[in-house]
Amino acid sequence: MRSKIVAGNWKMNKNMTETEALLAELSAKLPDSDAEVMVAPTFVNLAVSVRNLEHSTIEVIAQNMHFAESGAYTGEISADMLLDIGVDTAIIGHSERRAYFGETDEILAKKVTTALGKNIRVIFCFGEELEDRKSDQHFSVVESQLKNALFSLEASAWNHIVLAYEPVWAIGTGETASPEQAQEMHAFIRKTITEAYDAATANKVSILYGGSVKPGNAEEIFSKPDVDGGLIGGASLVADDFVAIIKSI
Ligand code: 13P
Repeated sequence: MRSKIVAGNWKMNKNMTETEALLAELSAKLPDSDAEVMVAPTFVNLAVSVRNLEHSTIEVIAQNMHFAESGAYTGEISADMLLDIGVDTAIIGHSERRAYFGETDEILAKKVTTALGKNIRVIFCFGEELEDRKSDQHFSVVESQLKNALFSLEASAWNHIVLAYEPVWAIGTGETASPEQAQEMHAFIRKTITEAYDAATANKVSILYGGSVKPGNAEEIFSKPDVDGGLIGGASLVADDFVAIIKSI
């Protein structure tokens, strides 16, 4: 049985006061759910978030991490630093990291290897751009993103990997993939993992959808058999919207 997950990626939003206020509201309104609920505040607010959620089932996760153990990497955050404050899941490969910070498949492969070596669970993001979809390259783009960053891993590593398919054209645009488009791609992803590994490995990996998930469309997207939850941007910044999305899983 795959885990159902709803994760909020807060990106570069919310100062510390706002973070604490949103966490308090979320904790108070959190519905009973089978899904794992996660939030990814900015790095400067991770430690305070862990403390604020000490008695909550909401998990605090990181938006990124560096591949090196430590050293001269100004501005970067290591796996050990995350573990030290009680964070053991990290988003890796978000399209904004790829587009604005030059994170290549090669860099992402190193980050994934480091994270798994440290027992950090990885939420690995990938997805095609609009031109890829228009030119019917979306399946091959997604396949190569997965292959380049993940398919050298041993099968056992997949116990610690969650995938998040986030078509770039649907992120923050208000335009979401249709539930059918999401299902079609998620099924393709599972088939690709089956071919690279085996069906048992493919069937245990949770595959989240991300890209303009809102209270109004979450239920239909989550109802698809290969969609195991969502990675939510904008709507995770509003407690009532995030709670409504959690309720729809
Ligand atoms: P939006 O939900 O704002 O489109 O963002 C999705 C996303 O990038 C989550 O990581």
